[in-house]
Amino acid sequence: MSNPVEVPVIKVLTLFPDMVRTVLETSMTGRAARADRVRYEVVDIREFSVDKHRTVDDSAYGGGAGMIMMAPPVVEAVESVRQRDDATVILTTPQGETFDEALTLELLDDVLEKGELILICGHYKGVDERVRELVVTREVSIGDYVLTGGELPALVIVDALVRRIEGVLHNGESAGNDSFTETRGGGLDCQWYTKPPEYRGLKVPDVLLSGHHGNIDKWRNEQSVDRTRSRRPDLLGPDSGDDVD
Ligand code: 6GU
Repeated sequence: MSNPVEVPVIKVLTLFPDMVRTVLETSMTGRAARADRVRYEVVDIREFSVDKHRTVDDSAYGGGAGMIMMAPPVVEAVESVRQRDDATVILTTPQGETFDEALTLELLDDVLEKGELILICGHYKGVDERVRELVVTREVSIGDYVLTGGELPALVIVDALVRRIEGVLHNGESAGNDSFTETRGGGLDCQWYTKPPEYRGLKVPDVLLSGHHGNIDKWRNEQSVDRTRSRRPDLLGPDSGDDVD
């Protein structure tokens, strides 16, 4: 028998632990934890405040609008949960690299290998730069817009990652042919139908009712490429454009 693999632990450091816990316990992320495919540790950064008012933010040196998350509580919260010196510590921030499926798979490999992944949810106007210098190893954004806090981005990252852990999705929920996967050539998924076969005059394409799996796969691949070309041509490789010569 092979060595029992430790359950990977995702550690989320936040000022809103109830929000994070509630979401992680819900739906697929909760089911994955109950099935021992992953564990979550949600850490309240405020617990690491060093004064009696439980302060975690202050105004910026040099002036300027907005509060800044203080370095000591955040750094100490990381150090309280980090078990390996080489653990990946992500700060969610609009200044980070943009999250995508390739980064999901990279972080999945990382957490499976190291057994832990730490996410710091940024807040307020920003985080004291020394947090980056002392503990952050990677900064991740979920897109070019500004959110109030890093909780939703951290939850986005955890969801994308956990659904890729083996055994988390049930049969019929396979991630294998989702948009952005290898099967889809990095492009978009095809369209899908279920009962009834006709609704308000709109029929399910005949090929899907034909029972001919070769033709069905071919049709789905064609639809996937068409959809990608019309909606997200940026996802197609440089050779995939229409030939004009
Ligand atoms: Cl990671 N944080 C915040 N505050 N806003 C964002 C983001 C992250 N990604 C996109 N917008």
